[in-house]
This record gives sequence, structure tokens and C-alpha cells, in this order.
Amino acid sequence: MGPRQLQARDLLVSIDRSSRAPIARQIEDQLRRAIRTGMLIGGSQLPSTRALAQDLSVSRGVVVRAYAQLSTEGYIDLRQGANPSVRRPVEVTRESAAPREIQRVRRPRFDLRAGVPDLGVFPRHAWLRSQRQALMSAPDLDLGYIDSRGLERLRVQIADYVGRARGVATTPDRVLVTAGSTHSLSLIARALARRGARTIGFENPSHMVLHEVAERAGLRPVGFPVDEEGLVVEELIGASVPAVVVSPAHQFPTGHALSGSRRAALARWAVDNDALIIEDDYDAEFRYDRASVGALHGLAPERVIYLGSASKTLAPGLRIGWAVLPPSFDVQIVQELSRSILQMSTFDQLAFETFLRAGELDRHLRKMRVVYRQRRDAVVRALEEELPDVPVGGIAAGLHLVLELGSYELEQSVYAASREQSIALESISEHALPGYEGPYGLVIGYGPLSEPAIREAIRELARVLTVLENRADSGPMLRGVA
Ligand SMILES: Cc1ncc(COP(=O)(O)O)c(C=O)c1O
Repeated sequence: MGPRQLQARDLLVSIDRSSRAPIARQIEDQLRRAIRTGMLIGGSQLPSTRALAQDLSVSRGVVVRAYAQLSTEGYIDLRQGANPSVRRPVEVTRESAAPREIQRVRRPRFDLRAGVPDLGVFPRHAWLRSQRQALMSAPDLDLGYIDSRGLERLRVQIADYVGRARGVATTPDRVLVTAGSTHSLSLIARALARRGARTIGFENPSHMVLHEVAERAGLRPVGFPVDEEGLVVEELIGASVPAVVVSPAHQFPTGHALSGSRRAALARWAVDNDALIIEDDYDAEFRYDRASVGALHGLAPERVIYLGSASKTLAPGLRIGWAVLPPSFDVQIVQELSRSILQMSTFDQLAFETFLRAGELDRHLRKMRVVYRQRRDAVVRALEEELPDVPVGGIAAGLHLVLELGSYELEQSVYAASREQSIALESISEHALPGYEGPYGLVIGYGPLSEPAIREAIRELARVLTVLENRADSGPMLRGVA
């Protein structure tokens, strides 16, 4: 698909007039997200400020401000006498000889993006052994059509794993094998939409890909604020969303854990409102400073759909995840899978079952907890040395932390300047839904980086901040942020 001239209606920008977020920000956020996720591709011509303003029934100045901000951040080009266009991302090059448009992503100099474990230590030998053993010993019937929920003996292993690792008490018949949490959420969202739901709640901020998954199923994501105790549950009361997606163990991206009283309040909300909690337990296996907090699932097993994944513990490329389903909603979700892809690859399920049964995941996790803890400590140390005035949050668990910056403008200028220096990272506000009012900052993933690489990357990031700070018109941006 080549670049094209977009009409205002193609952009799918909507304005929420009840939101306290300024309208220019709402336009800007939605366009930025569309560009970053590839929904708007490089070279596409955006509507003129006049056309977009007319279409959205807003003043032209508002669109001018939104476009100007996106241009400053490097997302779009503004040219005299021509419509603005989406900039071709610098890190993407196209292979002219490739038969189709295959996009190759050039590696950034420093990759601090969240969400990826160290792929270099994927236990290849153990995986290969499991594949070989599983395939050689599997009965022929296993290679045919199986239960859409997944191979039964794999569900036995998963029920056992979530029970001992995350305190999720369940039985194999409640377990659904999926292609990861994103896939699980997609099935759930489709089943909810089929039941008549129009909205779904999310923590605000929360992972932008999950918002899109819900949107594609026809549900409008509604954001609810998050503070140091995680989701502000009281905001859900009266909001009439049929379900809410939460990451209680390590909120993405802020890194806070849902407090005990909020967990209880959330479970009560779900029971009182006949609503569902979708527990995205994406990186809870890695917890460093406190004892592991069990899954929320145990507080209301009839109301919680628990989602787990091998993406952070092993590799996203495996595309293996699981959902633990409450009886009330089980059939619809399983049907979404069986009427879309029928079943997950049995060959991968066989290998994963053998891998789990042989204790390979536990072994890998024991090793990686130590490694990631050391990396986490290395980032925290490097930040203390290089950027002592900037507060750091969300360090107790997972594979990322947050560098807190005092304002949206600061976050965006540091983000854009980092990008210019080929430092890839994420901002909190790119994961925000309409109505978001902070806090702002950068999400720093450290999963794949060695300790020397971490030190170098943080030093480079500090250089970016210092250059920004020294720019004549910026003033002392970081002082007093803490
Ligand atoms: C918060 C969060 N939830 C879910 C996912 C999706 O994981 P999966 O690969 O299992 O679809 C990610 C991936 O980065 C994530 O960061």
C-alpha cells in the first residue's frame, strides 16, 4: 500500500469534549499514536488544517497547534502551500530489491524500549530438546485437530505453573492456550462486543497496543487514572464499563503495584457490578525488592480473567500465552478462538508442555531473576550518577522503570531529542488514553542490555538532557523536578 492523500475522515480522530485534556492535545495524541503504530504510514498526506478543523468542528488554530507540535517532534513535515505529510521514520529503510514491501528496522544506537527480555539467552538447547522429545513421543492423534482450548496435558502444566508461581488456583479445564496476552485480550474483547458491550476500561496510561486491540474488536477504551497505589478504583464506580484491564503486579507503564486495599475494592466493584477484571500479569515473574505479590485472581476467581504469557519470561517470538477463564464467560471466549484460528499450533504446544514438565522454565527464571536484578540495579545506579535530580519510579519489578519528567512538554522534548540521537525509548504519554493528565516521563526498558551497555545508554541519555537544558530558551528544566 503506497502513501496516499488522506481525508479528515480517514484519520479516525475523535474529540472527547467532556475530557479535561485540551483539544489540540487530543488531536496530537491520536495522530502521534497512529503514526507510531504504523496506521499512518510515511509519506501519507494529512488533511489541511482548514479541512481537519472543519471536519472536527474545532477552530483552525487548534489544528495548527497540534500539527506544529507533531512537526517539532519530527512526526510530520509542514511545507508552505502543501498539505502536511507523515515523515518517513528514519529508522525504517525499504529494501528496493525486496519483492514485496518488507520493512527493515535499523537498530537504534541505544535500544531502551520496554517489553523485551534478553533474547540472547533464550534457552535454545533446552527448547530444541523439548521440541524433539515432544514430537518423537507424541501420539499421532495429537497432530490432528485437538480441543480448541489447547492440548490437555499442556493445560495441566499451565494450571500447575500459575498455581505455584502466581497463586492462581485453577483447573486445566479453565485454561485456554493462546498466542500471548494480546491475542487473549483480542478474543475477550470480541466476545464482549458480541455480548453487546461498547466500552472497556483500561488503566490510564496502559499499553497502547492493548487499546488498539480493543478498538479493533469494536470496543471504545475508557481510561481510569492510576496513582502510586495503582488503579484508582473509586473512579470505576458508576462508570458502567463491563470490564476493566489491569496490570496489578507491575502497572504498565508506571510500574506501581496495586495496593491491598485497592485490590479488595476492585474485586468488590466487579462483584457488585457484574463486571469482569482482566488481569494482565505480563511480567510478574520478575520482582526484586519485595516478596512476590500473588495474582489478583484469587480474590474473585469468578470475576477475573487471568492472562499470562511466555513473552517476557522466554521470548515474544514464541507467541505462547494463556488465559484462565471464569465459568460464566468461558464458552464465548473459546468460541472466538475456535471460529477464528481453530486451535493453536499443536507442535509448539507439545514442545512447551515438555519444556514446562522438565522444569526448564523454572530453571531459566531462576537464572534470569538474578541477571535482571543486576541490570535493574545498574540502571538505577547509572541514573543516580548521571541524572541525580530526576526521580525514578516503578523499579521494584519487571523489565522496565520510569524516569519521571515534570511536564508533558518536557517529556516530549526529551523524547524527541533522544530519538534524534538514535536512543529508542517510550514515553508515558504515548500509552495514554484521552483525558490523561500525567504524570509524564520516559519508560526505560533494560531487559536485553548488559551492564556496560546500560551505563553507556544512560550516559548518552543524560547528555541529551544536558544539551536540552543548556539550550538558551529552555531554562533549567530538570532542577526541582523531584
Ligand atoms: C503490559 C503488556 N501487556 C501485554 C503485552 C503483550 O504480550 P504478549 O506478547 O503476550 O501478547 C505486553 C507486551 O509488551 C505488555 O507490555
